[in-house]
Amino acid sequence: MAVRFDAVTLFPAMFEAVSAVGVTGRAREAGLWSLTCWNPRDYTSNPYRTIDDRPYGGGPGMVMIPEPLDAALGAARQAQRDAGLAPRVLHLTPQGERLTHARVLDMRAAMQAGAGYVLLCGRYEGIDERVLVREVDEEVSVGDYVLSGGELAAMAVIDALVRQLPGVLGHADSAAEESFVAGLLDCPHYTRPEEYRGVRVPQVLMSGDHAKIARWRLKQSLARTLARRPDLFEAWCARKLSKQEASILAEVKAEAGEAVAASGGHS
Ligand code: ADE
Repeated sequence: MAVRFDAVTLFPAMFEAVSAVGVTGRAREAGLWSLTCWNPRDYTSNPYRTIDDRPYGGGPGMVMIPEPLDAALGAARQAQRDAGLAPRVLHLTPQGERLTHARVLDMRAAMQAGAGYVLLCGRYEGIDERVLVREVDEEVSVGDYVLSGGELAAMAVIDALVRQLPGVLGHADSAAEESFVAGLLDCPHYTRPEEYRGVRVPQVLMSGDHAKIARWRLKQSLARTLARRPDLFEAWCARKLSKQEASILAEVKAEAGEAVAASGGHS
């Protein structure tokens, strides 16, 4: 079943970046997912098509007014119901729960079970709280920084989710082997030429020995995760490990310990 997104946004043109280009663009053309944008400006009742106003209590910036947003959200919800879906409104905001691979998979499962997502993209200082309280089911942030609006965050959600749909990535295993899927960062990748600017491709990758290559890749992933994301590393170690995983882990820890010792205790 194809996955359907609706986005409530003042800037539908921004979504061409995911709708028309690259992996997600091809998947949309192949009918694996669809997106319909709903512009609150099309639902204004005043002659100037105003969608924002000054905040009560004063202060900088403007706040998006409730009526056009409500009307656009209502239309998006109705379109999803007409398509047989149960709409969920997801507000993109730095105050939301951080987007993770696990969250993306939860969303995919919900969509495959008949949910549709209405992505609510704010602009200006924000959205009138009364709309958020009544209409929003979930809130997601793409990181601890402030974007000029929810559109880029919504596109991050769409992209991360669409690449996890069956049939989207060319190689069947590509999505399964990426960073975060096993809770670890990705290993390094190499292609031709065999030597580039004096640096050779690691010998093991040319050995043709698939078991050895898999072991090397896991070790690289672990070493990188330890160096760059100790939080993920700890979580991975806390899992039940296979014999081989435990042996690779011991090597990585020993080598990291040696590196710290060699630097005189400064990493
Ligand atoms: N809108 C503005 N900043 C955002 C962020 N970091 N995540 C999600 N939506 C946003």
